[in-house]
Amino acid sequence: MTGRDAVVVRAPAKINVHLGVGPLRADGFHELRTVYLAVSLFDSVTVRPADGLSLTVSGEGAGVADGPGQVPGDRTNLVWRAAELLAEHAGVRPDAAMSVAKSIPVAAGLAGGSADAAAALVALDALWDTRAGRDELLRLAAQLGSDVPFGLVGGIALGVGRGEEVSPVLAGGRWHWVLGIAGDGLSTPAVYGELDRLRAAGRAPEVTEPTPADPVLAALRAGSPADVGAALVNDLQPAALSLRPDLRRALRAAADAGAVAALVSGSGPTVAALAADEQGAVRLAAELAGAGVFRTVRAVTGPVPGARLVP
Ligand code: C5P
Repeated sequence: MTGRDAVVVRAPAKINVHLGVGPLRADGFHELRTVYLAVSLFDSVTVRPADGLSLTVSGEGAGVADGPGQVPGDRTNLVWRAAELLAEHAGVRPDAAMSVAKSIPVAAGLAGGSADAAAALVALDALWDTRAGRDELLRLAAQLGSDVPFGLVGGIALGVGRGEEVSPVLAGGRWHWVLGIAGDGLSTPAVYGELDRLRAAGRAPEVTEPTPADPVLAALRAGSPADVGAALVNDLQPAALSLRPDLRRALRAAADAGAVAALVSGSGPTVAALAADEQGAVRLAAELAGAGVFRTVRAVTGPVPGARLVP
């Protein structure tokens, strides 16, 4: 123990500006080629010395309940599992009072739970003075979930494998987005399952490998918002739309409100609308807030860093 009172770490939401989904693998995951972009919507995790583990969750979607849209405050929460995993790995007792303050909506396709787990790893590494290296933390993160390693890295990164093998991408510029968050969450496995069903029924293109991300990578390096907008890909979008047909109206609302382009974020149901610049994002957010199709509308920017200690 370092004698610290409290350690606070914040971690960002992500959107996928490219999500190429390959065939279903034998292990139940899909081979991916994805480009993650961390955006300025943050959860924070605070950990304090204690005897044993405890967890409280406050803010957006907090509460103990089953199903998408609620965050468990018990050992099924990814934060709790992160604590047990790091303690076991480091050979320390899992002693910490943990609290999560959520701004990232739950089951929204924004990897909020993964951000919390990444933040917990960084916070507890500091509290317990376990001094796990970057590679060790990335390995532990991958055991917790496909999107958790990106929560550590942040910025813009290419994800391969099931999304857990991340490498940072060099990109110029800042991108301005408006996130339109719908009322009810979507379950990630259900959306992947729906894609498999659509592909088997010939209602979505069959693939032998995930679509390469080169066009969006080139656009992020040197392009304009229009270039990035033209290169956005989400193979999960038809599956999210099949489960939630009302999302078509949300995508249309973004186009009508002047978005450069819009797509479903990850497994949805959040819609990410790209704006030309910061002022454009403010205008777009105002338009979309008045459109009546979203529960919450947030203007964000990215890339931003991954899970970091708050001084
Ligand atoms: O890795 P994570 O626990 O976030 O994945 C949740 C679920 O999403 C998996 O159990 C699987 O059904 C689906 N998934 C997938 N292929 C991926 C990532 C996730 O099929 N690459």
